[in-house]
Amino acid sequence: MPPLRHLAIIMDGNGRWAEQRHLPRIVGHRRGVETVQRIVAACHARGIPYLTLYAFSSENWGRPVEEVGALMGLLGRYLQSELDTMLQRGVRLRVIGETGRLPADVQRVLEETVSRTAANGEMVLTLALSYGGRDEIVRGVRRLAEQVKRGALLPEQIGESELSAALDTAGIPDPDLLIRTSGEMRISNFLLWQLAYAELHFTDVLWPDFDEAELQTALDRFRQRQRRFGLTAAQLAEQATTPGEDRH
Ligand code: FPP
Repeated sequence: MPPLRHLAIIMDGNGRWAEQRHLPRIVGHRRGVETVQRIVAACHARGIPYLTLYAFSSENWGRPVEEVGALMGLLGRYLQSELDTMLQRGVRLRVIGETGRLPADVQRVLEETVSRTAANGEMVLTLALSYGGRDEIVRGVRRLAEQVKRGALLPEQIGESELSAALDTAGIPDPDLLIRTSGEMRISNFLLWQLAYAELHFTDVLWPDFDEAELQTALDRFRQRQRRFGLTAAQLAEQATTPGEDRH
């Protein structure tokens, strides 16, 4: 049974959930926030140490200004209302993405939540905000180039672990499982580098309807999969009996 340390989720389908009910899209996003609260609690209860949610992509800035404004408002209110719960549950908040583009009040509440939960060790909840995977890789490459320019790093010293450490997700293990709701089968510029070996789970359920039972189905299916990391099944069986050979 493969261990699950990091679950990443593309929360898709809020808009369609609302449109199906002839409601404004923002009502779907509001219901989406309630799903976030339920799923964070369910992951915490299951002892999943890392959960990463794609809450707002770099491309989402192109949505109508009212929708962007409403999403930012929901985000700010979510953070304010969840701080106590995060502190009680030992949840540490992290943020990945180009957060400098977010409205100043959202940046302030994010910084406060990140710093007030920094010592928590039960679970790391990472929100991807103004996030794009290619964008993040470019930022990481720039950070490495700066180090080379300063003479702190030689080009030949740059390997996969150096690039991983230069990304926004530094210190977070790669996702073991990615869930995407709403029937779309795309990665949509999410965690491009980090998802290299992730198992993928797609469900037709729209994010506002995604519940604990759907989460459990995804986790059960994940547990039935054999992760080979490019090796053969025989090699894996041999590794399992050789101590100290575990790659993940
Ligand atoms: C996708 O639905 C969802 C988003 C673009 C935003 C996700 C945001 C939330 C769940 C609420 C805020 C998040 C937090 C963490 C408080 P969509 O609008 O793309 O749906 P559609 O594809 O049906 O139009």
